[in-house]
Amino acid sequence: MSDYAVAIGLGSSLPPETVTNHDLAERLDTSDEWIRTRTGIAARRFANPGTTTADLAVAAGRAALLSAEHDSPDLVILATTTPDRRCPATAPEVAHRLGLGHVPAFDLSAVCSGFVYATGVADASIRSGLYRSVLVIGAETYSRIIDPEDRDTAVIFGDGAGAVLYRRGDAAEPGAVHGVELGSDGGGADLVAIAAGGSRLPNMFPDMPRDLRFFRMNGREIFRLAIRRMTASADAVLGKVGWSAGELDCFIGHQANQRILDAVADRLGVPAERRFGNIREVGNTAAASIPLALAHAVAAQAARPGGRALLTAFGGGLTWGSIALTWPDARPVELPPDPGHPLAIVPSPRPAHLEEPCPPSSEPRKPTSLSAPC
Ligand code: ACO
Repeated sequence: MSDYAVAIGLGSSLPPETVTNHDLAERLDTSDEWIRTRTGIAARRFANPGTTTADLAVAAGRAALLSAEHDSPDLVILATTTPDRRCPATAPEVAHRLGLGHVPAFDLSAVCSGFVYATGVADASIRSGLYRSVLVIGAETYSRIIDPEDRDTAVIFGDGAGAVLYRRGDAAEPGAVHGVELGSDGGGADLVAIAAGGSRLPNMFPDMPRDLRFFRMNGREIFRLAIRRMTASADAVLGKVGWSAGELDCFIGHQANQRILDAVADRLGVPAERRFGNIREVGNTAAASIPLALAHAVAAQAARPGGRALLTAFGGGLTWGSIALTWPDARPVELPPDPGHPLAIVPSPRPAHLEEPCPPSSEPRKPTSLSAPC
């Protein structure tokens, strides 16, 4: 049957700047020991100020296309919580910079479950015959939305991108997606959130409380729910495809916290040697987490092409989801962030009546809110 989505190319991109736990402990009330034992994270990458989510997404997307030796996907989906701008979406710019012409391209927002959700859309699009190939990218720059003074979140998140190219293919091919399971519970929307910047509280003021401006998370509650939802979602997709956890060749969970990953894999009954993770080196990269870990796992030959794999994620929303697929027969490619364009802030033209000369500094300025800057 040739109506399956098959992963044929894997790409990734990480900013070169590494931030260790020791670096964070220099400015926060935390320690390398606490972060390692409570989360499993030793380091993460933070993009430099000139690098954006699009730059990471372009690099990972290009890497996946190179890996697949395919240059004309029919659709691009970018899973991200940290788009370059609030409007428009970042995916069209990514498609444009990849030279993909006028393909449809859109952002998908499901926080840490974004890649799994995007794969669900890609899978449905390919199975239905709507598209033959879909490039799914997960890319994030959480360093831009976390509060550098909040130790609850600053120690967990990192920046990066991963991408998978799916094309229409056969169930027997390595990389075939056999099942996807998705779910959500908006009753928990406040547990992971940036309160301001949307239609509820549109504007961000410099004196706005930090709790409203920055990403906030109820860590303990999310910890509990992540274990419960990821385990149930994984069970559901395994039931759907008729696989058992014990016969999986590789389990990759959303790299949220090593203790969460251990608890989920233990509950499912996945043997320790069949679990793959990269949280130690890259931290939690939200929507980029699963494709980045998958690219690293395939590069490390964590399983044999055609083996059975399970990907499971949980994130803000609340959202969760799982994918059952066979191990791709691909050679992952990693590229540095695309240099992109330097940030050009172009001031809007000022009305002529405001272009009055500045008074000498001894003269008081006219008390008008529309005064030209002097
Ligand atoms: N450094 C040192 N001490 C800390 C830190 C820190 N960074 N953070 C908390 N502590 C302290 C607390 O103050 C507390 O001290 P106390 O016992 O004196 O009160 C103690 O450590 C334990 O705090 P807890 O909050 O219970 O720590 P916990 O073991 O739950 O770990 C963590 C906190 C890492 C945030 C954990 O709850 C977690 O990983 N939650 C899930 C996060 C997650 O999965 N996110 C992904 C989904 S979010 C998304 O979709 C983007």
